[in-house]
Amino acid sequence: MNLFPFGMPVPKEEIIDREDFLRTIKSRLLMGQNLVLAGPRRIDKTSIVLEL
Ligand SMILES: Nc1ncnc2c1ncn2[C@@H]1O[C@H](COP(=O)(O)OP(=O)(O)OP(=O)(O)O)[C@@H](O)[C@H]1O
Ligand SMILES: [Mg+2]
Repeated sequence: MNLFPFGMPVPKEEIIDREDFLRTIKSRLLMGQNLVLAGPRRIDKTSIVLEL
């Protein structure tokens, strides 16, 4: 069993150092604003979308 799967989206409790960013984009989405999430490979885009 691999306790440290590599490369998959991570669950919200394992997303490091994105508290401010998540708060900001959550509040913008709640205001009805659309957004595009762009960034380099493996920067946690999918993890953030799944958490949202
Ligand atoms: N902020 C973070 N906190 C924890 N892990 C992170 C973070 N950013 C990247 N990772 C690591 O990156 C891996 C890939 O995360 P994720 O799939 O969400 O990224 P992605 O930007 O969607 O990648 P891809 O460009 O391949 O689609 C995770 O398994 C994790 O190991
Ligand atoms: Mg992805």
